[in-house]
Amino acid sequence: MSWSATLLTLFPEMFPGPLGTSLAGRALREGIWSCEARDIRAQALDRHRTVDDTPFGGGAGMVMRPDVVDAAIAAAMPAGDPRPLIYLTPRGRLLDQALVRQLAAGPGVVLLCGRYEGVDQRVIEARGMIEVSIGDYVLSGGEIGALTLLDACIRLLPGVMGAAESAVEESHSAGLLEYPQYTRPAEWQGRAVPQVLLSGHHAEVARWRRQESEAATRERRPDLWTRTQVAADGAAA
Ligand code: ADE
Repeated sequence: MSWSATLLTLFPEMFPGPLGTSLAGRALREGIWSCEARDIRAQALDRHRTVDDTPFGGGAGMVMRPDVVDAAIAAAMPAGDPRPLIYLTPRGRLLDQALVRQLAAGPGVVLLCGRYEGVDQRVIEARGMIEVSIGDYVLSGGEIGALTLLDACIRLLPGVMGAAESAVEESHSAGLLEYPQYTRPAEWQGRAVPQVLLSGHHAEVARWRRQESEAATRERRPDLWTRTQVAADGAAA
């Protein structure tokens, strides 16, 4: 059984989009994952195919109706569908690699992509949706968030990446930013590659990379650095 992604969206033509090319595209053609994009508008209840309405309490924009969204979910998920139902929204918990790993290890995902000002809160609660944000900025809809989440999951599916990359993924870089990379030429525009990388001393290279990873994490992502230290202390205790 392939890892299966179902998208509920007003713009089904956005899928698989960029995930039809490169690594994810090859995996899609090989049947490692599957992608079904369903048009929420197909579940509209009236002849105008209305999916949204003005917010109670006033304010700008439009809100997606709970009855239409619920019908779209019912049509997409057979009873007992084991996949988590995720709503992409800037109000959600932040997507991180731990959640990506968890989702990639499961049977797949059903992703609800909102437009307008969002989705009526009652259907979010009634369906037990997991609200997920891909970052602290506002996109014009959930579709690009869904593509991001899918890309992150797909590269972890068995048979998508090479064994070498998968091993790196799991162990040494956990909780740290990557070290900088260099390739030929060894000197470019007067800039030399760090000497240690040309030395052939594997232990020295590993030590240098570890230092670079830690320094970059401390400087650029103090939040991540603190969490990583706390996790390391917990593991040592
Ligand atoms: N929809 C709009 N903004 C979003 C975000 N940051 N993450 C996920 N879905 C969104």
